[in-house]
Formats: sequence, structure tokens, C-alpha cells
Amino acid sequence: MDKAPLLKEIIESRRSIFPKSYTGENIEDAVLEDILNSANFAPQHKRTKPWRFKVFRGEEKTQLGQHLADIYRSTVSPEGFLEKKFVDISEKISKSNAVIAICVNFSGLVPEWEEIAATAMAVQNMYLTCTVNNVGSYWSTPGMINHLQGFLGLEENQKCIGLFYLGKI
Ligand SMILES: Cc1cc2nc3c(=O)[nH]c(=O)nc-3n(C[C@H](O)[C@H](O)[C@H](O)COP(=O)(O)O)c2cc1C
Repeated sequence: MDKAPLLKEIIESRRSIFPKSYTGENIEDAVLEDILNSANFAPQHKRTKPWRFKVFRGEEKTQLGQHLADIYRSTVSPEGFLEKKFVDISEKISKSNAVIAICVNFSGLVPEWEEIAATAMAVQNMYLTCTVNNVGSYWSTPGMINHLQGFLGLEENQKCIGLFYLGKI
């Protein structure tokens, strides 16, 4: 079997799909597991497995949404505050079936950029696994992620580098 056309088709059909387009249907647990498992096959230097993912669903996801909205309110200046943006933050989270905090663990064994690069490749694997499972997803990097250290329980050598939104399409 010539696998090249299939791989080409999957790579070329991957798209970022945003929460407004999600149907609200549940992503089966087995599919979510496959998505997360695919991340573990990303290349990495010195086998550091630097990616750390925290999956938010249900009530925990709601709490994440409220926390992000609180961060927005407390970090933006009163003049810069936009009610629409404030409401959009929780809405994006509630329209998603799952949100994955993308975090990196800096082992100190290799340069930090290598661990970020490996984590980005792990995210690409998740994107591709989403594509073949009719799951929409996208990587978002709002400023609020720099204030999630405590909420996510991250250690000093760990950093959140994005939120991965997922929903059925
Ligand atoms: C590291 C990274 C950060 C991103 N951050 C955001 C973001 O904060 N907001 C957003 O709308 N899209 C973000 N994106 C998604 C890109 O906007 C999206 O990939 C781009 O629109 C290209 O579309 P495609 O993924 O369908 O090729 C990010 C993508 C990457 C790889």
C-alpha cells in the first residue's frame, strides 16, 4: 500500500477550526485519548518528553473559563477593557468540548527552544489526529496564559505556551 497519498491528504487538509464552528457534540473518550496519545510520538532530544498537557472538560473547563475571564479583567487597564472580549473568553471555552493547556517542562538537559520545538511537534500530531477524527481544534496564545502558573499547578521549570481548543465539527 502506498501510504504517501494518504499522508499528503491528511497534512494538507489540517486546518485550525475555531469554537464558533463546533457542533457541541461530545468527543468520545477513546478519540480524545488517541489525540493525546499521538502527541507522545513527537521527536524530542534526549528523550525528555517535555510536553505536559492538562485536559479540561465539564465543570473544570467552566472554572478555567471563569479564571481566564478574571485574569483578563484584572490585567487589562480600565480604559482597555472590552466587555465583548470578556464575554468571548468564557464563550469560546463553553463552545469547546475540551480545552487542553499546552505546557512545556524544561528539563535543563537540552536548550529550552528544543523543548518548545518538541512540544510544538507534539501539538501538530494532535492537530493531525483531530483532522482524521472530525474534531476541530486550534492553538491559541492569549496573554492570559502567562498568568496560569498557579491555576495549572506548574513548577518553576514549566510554562504554559497555549490553549488547545477542541470540538466536534
Ligand atoms: C504557536 C501558535 C499560536 C497561535 N495562536 C493563535 C491565537 O492566539 N489566536 C488565533 O486566532 N490563532 C492562533 N493560532 C492559529 C493560527 O492563527 C492558525 O494556525 C492560522 O490561522 C493558520 O490556519 P491553519 O492552522 O488552518 O493553517 C496559533 C497557531 C500557532 C501555531
